[in-house]
Amino acid sequence: MIHHVELTQPVLQYVRDNSLRDNPILRDLREETSRLPLRTMQVPPEQGQLLHLLTRLLGARKTLEVGVFTGYSTLCTALALPADGRVVACDLSEEWISVARRYWKLAGVEERIDVRLGDAHHTLEALVSSPERGTFDLAFIDADKESYEHYYEFALRLLRPGGLVVLDNTLWSGKVADPAVSDPETDSLRRINAKLLHDERVDLSMLPFADGLTLARKR
Ligand SMILES: C[S@@+](CC[C@H](N)C(=O)[O-])C[C@H]1O[C@@H](n2cnc3c(N)ncnc32)[C@H](O)[C@@H]1O
Repeated sequence: MIHHVELTQPVLQYVRDNSLRDNPILRDLREETSRLPLRTMQVPPEQGQLLHLLTRLLGARKTLEVGVFTGYSTLCTALALPADGRVVACDLSEEWISVARRYWKLAGVEERIDVRLGDAHHTLEALVSSPERGTFDLAFIDADKESYEHYYEFALRLLRPGGLVVLDNTLWSGKVADPAVSDPETDSLRRINAKLLHDERVDLSMLPFADGLTLARKR
């Protein structure tokens, strides 16, 4: 028998009521972000908590984040690192990063976050040609969807063996599974999903969680 739970609003509320370990700083950052026009870009709180747990499971000391926005996922990750840990955080927008920095500071983790402002393509290219290659424990990819394959390839080179790539939005509101939909973002996500299925360099799990979250562990 195939058994799955339909994620209705009451079920999601139940998940939050029974598993979310919230704190006032995370809550305030969600609240401030909820007033922005692009608020839906923020990862949902249970996903932030999963990133925190994955960071701890890996014993991570150094992580990469591609797509920071107002810093919620970065904050969840940074809080899971040891005091001398580091998140290399890539984004284009000074404006959103300035919101993020306020909350990172309040949470006492701003020193763990190394912001690289600019196009992540350039940032990642510079990182793979540096001694940082092969030294990251976790890479969270959540920026422009058309570039996922590119970001994934760079992330694999930056991770140590056993490191984890986490790709967000791999179900893209279900559009990847709807043959009637074709647009650059959906098509790009379909390409990376298809590529990962047969990619022998990683162990794989695609979670039908939030907007689809794919975990790929570098072998
Ligand atoms: C979905 S949001 C990230 C959400 C974030 N992870 C969170 O938890 O709130 C995507 C972010 O990617 C950034 N972005 C888009 N294209 C980029 C690029 N080429 N290089 C760096 N960042 C980019 C955008 O500025 C935006 O802040």
